[in-house]
Formats: sequence, structure tokens, C-alpha cells
Amino acid sequence: MIPLKGSSSWTSCFVALTAVSFLITPAVSVKHANFKTCEQSGFCKRNRLFADAADSLGSEWQSGYALDPSSIKLTGGQFTGNILKSIVGLEEKIVLPLTVSFLESGVARVTLDEEKRLKGEIELRHDSKARKERYNEAEKWAIVGGLQLSTSAAINKEAEQGTTRVLYGPAGSFEAVIKHSPFSVDFKRDGTTQIKFSERGLLSMEHWRPQIEKPAPPEVKEGEEAPPPPAEDPDKPVYDESTWWDESFGGNTDSKPRGPESVGLDITFPGYEHVYGIPSHASSLSLKETRGGDGQYSEPYRLYNSDVFEYEMDSPMTLYGAIPLMHAHRKDSTVAIFWLNAAETWVDITKSKSTANPLSLGIGSHTDTRTHWFSESGLLDVFVFLGPTPKDITQKYGELTGYTQLPQSFAIAYHQCRWNYVSDNDVIDVDRKFDKHKIPYDVIWLDIEYTQEKKYFTWDPMTFANPIKMHDHLDKKDRKLVAIIDPHIKNTDNYPVVEELKKKELAVKNKEGNIYEGWCWPGSSHWIDCFNPAAITWWKTLFKYEKFAGTAPNTFIWNDMNEPSVFNGPETTMPKDNLHHGNWEHRDVHNINGMTFVNATYQAMVERKRGEQRRPFVLTRSFYAGSQRLGAMWTGDNQANWDHLAASIPMVLSQGIGGFPFAGADVGGFFGNPEKDLLTRWYQAGIFYPFMRGHAHIDTRRREPYLAGEPYTGIISQALRLRYALLPAWYTAFHQASVDGSPIVRPNFFVHPTDDKGFAIDDQLYLGDTGLLAKPVTKEGADSVDIYIADDEPYYDYFDYTIYLGKGTKTIKAPLEKIPLLMQGGHIIPRRDRPRRSSGLMRYDPYTLVLVLDKEGNAQGTLYVDDGDSFDYISGGYIHRNFEYSSATSTLQSTDLNPDPNAKGSKTAAYLKTMSSVTVEKILIISAPKEWKQRTQVSISEEGVKDSLKKRTVELTYHEGSKGQANWAVVRKPDLSIGKGWKIDFGGTE
Ligand code: GLC
Repeated sequence: MIPLKGSSSWTSCFVALTAVSFLITPAVSVKHANFKTCEQSGFCKRNRLFADAADSLGSEWQSGYALDPSSIKLTGGQFTGNILKSIVGLEEKIVLPLTVSFLESGVARVTLDEEKRLKGEIELRHDSKARKERYNEAEKWAIVGGLQLSTSAAINKEAEQGTTRVLYGPAGSFEAVIKHSPFSVDFKRDGTTQIKFSERGLLSMEHWRPQIEKPAPPEVKEGEEAPPPPAEDPDKPVYDESTWWDESFGGNTDSKPRGPESVGLDITFPGYEHVYGIPSHASSLSLKETRGGDGQYSEPYRLYNSDVFEYEMDSPMTLYGAIPLMHAHRKDSTVAIFWLNAAETWVDITKSKSTANPLSLGIGSHTDTRTHWFSESGLLDVFVFLGPTPKDITQKYGELTGYTQLPQSFAIAYHQCRWNYVSDNDVIDVDRKFDKHKIPYDVIWLDIEYTQEKKYFTWDPMTFANPIKMHDHLDKKDRKLVAIIDPHIKNTDNYPVVEELKKKELAVKNKEGNIYEGWCWPGSSHWIDCFNPAAITWWKTLFKYEKFAGTAPNTFIWNDMNEPSVFNGPETTMPKDNLHHGNWEHRDVHNINGMTFVNATYQAMVERKRGEQRRPFVLTRSFYAGSQRLGAMWTGDNQANWDHLAASIPMVLSQGIGGFPFAGADVGGFFGNPEKDLLTRWYQAGIFYPFMRGHAHIDTRRREPYLAGEPYTGIISQALRLRYALLPAWYTAFHQASVDGSPIVRPNFFVHPTDDKGFAIDDQLYLGDTGLLAKPVTKEGADSVDIYIADDEPYYDYFDYTIYLGKGTKTIKAPLEKIPLLMQGGHIIPRRDRPRRSSGLMRYDPYTLVLVLDKEGNAQGTLYVDDGDSFDYISGGYIHRNFEYSSATSTLQSTDLNPDPNAKGSKTAAYLKTMSSVTVEKILIISAPKEWKQRTQVSISEEGVKDSLKKRTVELTYHEGSKGQANWAVVRKPDLSIGKGWKIDFGGTE
């Protein structure tokens, strides 16, 4: 399978490498034993050896993949041709059809298939029923738009011999330089190479081949001497065939009916020192090297969705979800690639001194980042984004895979969960205690114990005798209930759900084509196959109120264990040779599996009741590119310790960079009992997770915030109130994510892409566009934090307006009760300051606007608001305002961000009417100009009934800051309508 010269130097190099690799015994700890290392995963091992061999031969290495020049053409934005793969000792060349699609958006896509398999001209081993093609439906699940081909992509006639150059992208400023032999592609922006495909010659597509049975060794009779083994043939393909066919791990054997079929490619980012993304790993935001070295990893980052019990910190080990999107970043540029493949995938990362254009020194970094990607099966399908800004990447990636779902507004408030609230009375009791202690919360959750013997869509009649009463109780305070529904369906008698599943043949099948059976929470179970449209249709019926009796409009859903987790399966998941709808092997679709289940639930929730047009809320543990369209994720079963608290920040940031920003970690830690200070700090950090839920394992002690006692309960309540006060800012950030893919919480590199000192910072975060910069305390006993300021705007402490001036690291005092939170000058932050029991009860509350003036005295911000529940916003049922304060005119103005009534929709007027009594009740101005000391009032003009502006005056109070604090001013009760245009003149009244 390996295309290479049969040189003896190569062979000796391979032998040496193999020998060395056998000497290295991977460190196996208890946690690791259930999961493969690269060495234990056949294709990972092969691809790494391939890379080692190529890299050690350097320029002597020759890839065996060449584009057949007679086959190439460019039509309608698509470049096509055949890559011919040569094999040592074989005349025949393997034909690999190549398509390079140049998209209207400026994104390029490189797709490689295998002709024989496309045509079905292969034989499967073990009489397998599996499909013969390479899996080509990942696009169907992950991509929802942005595939229009460019009409302007054109051949650059200046190409040298043996090369095709295609100009594309904005004003033809991008170029793909396609070298025919050996095949490689360089992607350029404005004449500079940004991304290189197969620079190292590691392109590899393991073509189909028949298994040649080896003759059995001659029988040795007793007393006779065994004949010597045959001498090694130096020209024999160097790969160790032992990993080509049936592969065993942990007592399970994968029958691999198609044999070896991995795809691999090296992707180099010349001059790029940092790469980010490919969540989810408990790792740093800026990804580490993976081939050893100080503080680096020796295993590649793995993407193979798994239920990793007690996952470890600072590790490239796989976790529950996978998004194969990687950003590469340097001072003047961000680019990215998206590896669209749903099979088990590994990514090696190394960095080396830059060989990039020496003229760019001083602009770009002096380091090249080299990555090597390989997946077990499927097409090679890679999207290339040439930036140049991080926002360009998240926007273009979102155009392809969809933007974050605009959630129900309650979903961004606080969720209270544990495994388990044991009865309906327990739920009501917890609810009452929150109220008694005046702690806000929106959602209480039920884990698996609410069911009758783990049969989903049932209630335990002993403990949840009256679920409707429980729902009604919650609804009185506009609170919700989330119930868990997992994809494993209990295999038992007298359970209509499993009976229907079997009868309709909607479950995943084993390699023989019979219903697959495995173990999960209920014991023996079957798994719904949501790749099957008929399974989705059936799933929808199960959520109807009449069918899932005991649910109500305030019931929402949690989908867990959807990697899928199978307790007795290989690596705690399904056998790879299981079969899904269309006879695709589980191997091909594994990383998408979890998303298909959430998709089914999402659709079921949309159609729960005819005419009920409400946004679903579904939480998922497993995810893939595109899952952001369907709900929220959390980082799985973390632990109640400080390391896990600290790790949650880069993990959540990484989710945003990976295009799935609605993310959070279990507040308090899932396993174990947090000390009270840890619990408190976790709440203070958790208020900065886009998804905020407290959760705990069944064996832990109760830890609802009111149980902590003082001062902890009070401090936690303050933190939660801060989250609630800032909900308008959060919702606005979610709206932005839903239209342009911007992360909801953002790392330094994203906000300050030219400040290289901040590129590796991943323990502080900005909230949307608000300029709010938080640095959660994640160290035991810490009473201060160092926060890094990347720009020369003034920053102000959120609570006492202490001024922080100048770039660099600032130390902020942070005793237990203090949340380190700064406001960057230049923003207007919308808030709602009246404490309430739930966010729903704040729906018609007035707003506070916080003006944080920049060094020029200006500020700007936005507010997005809608009913937070229905889809009316799609028909214009929303308010979207821009607020701008100008020091030149001393005016604050509210303008409509979408003033064209035709661009809105039929629901605008009705929504504005609903909100007509909602006002701005307070305006705070941080760093108010000194001249305002003399002023006592401001004058207001407001869009009137007939669009005329009526004027009135309102009181202004000025406060002088002391000891390093900013001066501030307040305008009380301007009573300006939130949905209308208005202007406040701060200077013109005296
Ligand atoms: C899994 C989930 C956890 C849940 C438990 C029981 O471990 O990750 O959140 O509590 O299952 O359903």
C-alpha cells in the first residue's frame, strides 16, 4: 500500500524505526487501559510510521501520488482529475478521483475518492453486508450551506510546467498551486503561501486490496527441528501487515471487512506558531506538539467520541465529542482547515523553525506548524479557509456547518442538576429552598433515576407519581424541567418502545445484520439508529405530550451517552463493524453518531405538538461539526478538584473556536465532593460558561448552593445574580453567534489578533462584544489573580470602577467574595438589575445601560431581544438596537440595527407592542467627564407617536471616584422605551 521507492536505505530506516518503536512501551495507567494509544490503533501506527519514514528520508522521500495531467480540467469552479497512486512492485496504478472545489465564499475544498470502491469493484471479507464505497455522507450531516461554486475561479496561465494554478477568492487574491507529481497543493493569499498540503509527502489513501492468505507454516513433527523462517524480502512492502485485517483490543475483535482503508495528509502552516481548535480535549487552547519534547505530548490528539471515565488533565486523549476544525494563527493572519471525516481521527502536531518566506520575518512568526491528519476510513475531504482574521474563519465555517442555534432564553440562565433528584416532592422541595434563599435558577434536571427501571419515556410510579403537578409547580415561576433520554433502549419485555424499535427495525445492527445488543444503564439494550430517516419519524412520535405522558410545555431534553457509550463494547462504544442505515459501518460514521441522535430529538421537540412553535432545548454530550445547530454541550464527567475547574476555561474557549460555543462544564465537578471554597469559585467561574449547569454524581453529597452556608451561599447567590443581571448581554452574544458564528466567550487571540503576547493565554475570557473581561480564580487559596491586558484602552473593575491603564499584566485582588471582572473602555453593556427568581420573570423588566468610555470618551454597544421562546424572531419579532455615545456631541443615541421595515417581517409590530412598556431605567457612565460635575440634568428626545421627537429633562448625578477609581455618573429613570429611537444630550441642558 505504500508508494515509495524500494531503496535499501529506506528499508533499513524502516527496520530501525520499527525496532525502536517496539522498544518504547507506552505508559499505561488505569485510566488509559480502556482506550487505544496510537500504537494500539492499527492505522494510527501505520500512518505515524509512514510519517517517520518520510521525515527521516527528507528530500530523498518521494510520495507515490501523482496527478494524471491528461485527466485534469477546471469547469464551473471545480478542478477535477485523477491522482494515480503507484505501488512498489505493481504495474497497476490505483485511480483516486480528485475534486478541488472553489466556493463562492472563498473557501476551497479538496476531495479524494477511490475509483474501485466508487464503482463497487471490491470484495468484502467475512461475507460482510457493509457498503463498498468510501463513506461519502458526512457532508449530508455536517454541511448546511455555503457550497455554491465560484463563478470566477480561473486558471492562472503563468503556471510553470507540471503545475496548475487556480486563482479564486475575493478579487482573485487566493491561489491554489497544484503540483502534479508528486501531488501537492499550496494555498496562497496575496501571493504568500499560507497552507501546504502534502509538502512532506504524507498524502496517503490505503487502497482496497484482497487479503492474501499466507500458507500455513509447515507442520513440525515431534522430534524434528523447525525449518528456518523465510528470509525477509527487502522489496516487500514495509508495512506490518498484522494491522491490516482483523484487529483486537481489550477482548473485542474488529472484523474489518474492507481491510486497511485509512486516509492521511500532512498539512503545514508556514510561519504560523499557534494552532487552535479540534475540540474536545482536556488540553490547552493553543495546541501542543505531539511527538515528545518538554511539556509536549507524545500521543497525537485523538478524535474518537468516547465515554472516558474520569478523564485526565492536560492530555490529547479523546473525549466525548469531535470537531475537526483547526485554526492556525499568527500576528497578521488566521487561516484554518476543516477535515470532514467522521471516522476515528488522529492529529499529530510538530513545530519547527520557519522555512517560510524570509521576507515575512518580523510580520509572521519564525515557526512553522506541521500537522499530520489521518482517519481510519472514508473520503479525504478537507476545507481550506484563508482568513485573514479569526472572525473570517468562524463566519465561513458557520456558513458551511450552520451557526449556533438561538436558544430559549431560559437555557442561558442557571440550571440545577444532580444525579438524581429522587422524587417529584424532592424537586418541589429543592425549588422552594432556592426561593427561600432568594437564589435565582431557571431549570431543574432529572437524571436517569426518574424512569421506571431505566426505560425512557416512563416515570417511576413510586417516586414520580405526579409529574404534571411538579411541572405546574415549576411553571408558576416560569421554571423548566429537563429530563434525560438516552439512545440505548432497554431490551426487556412489556416495554412498547423497545417493541416498536424492533418491529420497525430501526435499531443499529451488528456485523451479521441482526439487531445489535450491548450493555448500558438499563442492562441489555438496543440502540436507535438515527441515521435512518424512518427512525427519526418514529422518534418524533414518542415525544408527543400524549405519548410521553407526564411531560408538559416546560419539559426539555438531555441526550447523554450518545457517543454511543456501550459498557461492554470496545473502548466503551460500539463495535466498528456494526451496521447503520444504508449499511454504512459504524467505523465510518462514529463521530457523527451522537449528532444524529440529538438531531432526532431536536426535530421531535419542534413537532411535539401541532401548532406549538417553540425552540427546542437539547443538551448533548457527544457532538460533531454541525451540532451547534441543535443545542448545548457540556464537557462530561469532570471531577470536583481545582485542576478540573482550571481546565474548564480553555475547554469552553476551544468549543467557541471550534464553532460550537454553547458549552459549559459541570459546575462543582461531577465526581467527588468539592470543598466549599472550590464550589464557590466554581460558581464564580461558571457564570462565564455559555451553558451553566451545576451537576453531581449520584454518590456525592447534596450541594445545592443554599446548603453551603454563609458566607458561601451568599457569595454564590451574588455570582448567580451577576449572571442574571448580564443575561441581556449574554443573549445578545448568542444572537451574534447565531448569525455570524462568533464565539460567545472569546480568548485573547480572537479579540486581539495582533497581540502575540496573548496568543497562548487561555485562562481569561471576553464575553461577546461587550468588552467584559473575566479571569476566574481557579487556584486553591488564591486571593488575587494576574490578568493580562492586551491593548491601551482603559479597563475598569466591574464592581468598584478601579482603573487599570496600559498594556500588560495587572494584579487584581480577589478574596473569596470577589469575581475578577473588568470592563474594557469603549463599550455599552446592557443589564437587568432587578433580582428575580427566574429569567422568565425578568421578561418585561427594565434595562440598565452601562457606558464604559474609551480613551477618547466614546462608547458603543448593542442589544438583541426577542420573546426567547418561539420562532417569531425569524419573522421579525425582535428588537435589535445600537447604542452609541459620542464625546464630540455628548450624546447617547439608540438606533435600530435593522431599520428597514421590509427587511423585517410580519411579527415586528406585534413584538414591539408587547415590549412597549419596557424601558431603560438607568444609565451608568463609567469614567464620566469631569465637566459633568457641574451638570445636574440631561435632555432627552424620543421617537414619538408620530415620529416627532418630544423633549424632556432628567436628573444626572455625578460621583467622583476616589483612590484609583473612575468618576462615574448616573441618569436615573430616563424611562426610554427599549424598542424606540431616542437621544440623550449630556451637554446641552445648562
Ligand atoms: C453520564 C453523564 C452524567 C450523568 C450520568 C447518569 O455519566 O455524563 O452527567 O449524570 O451518566 O445519567
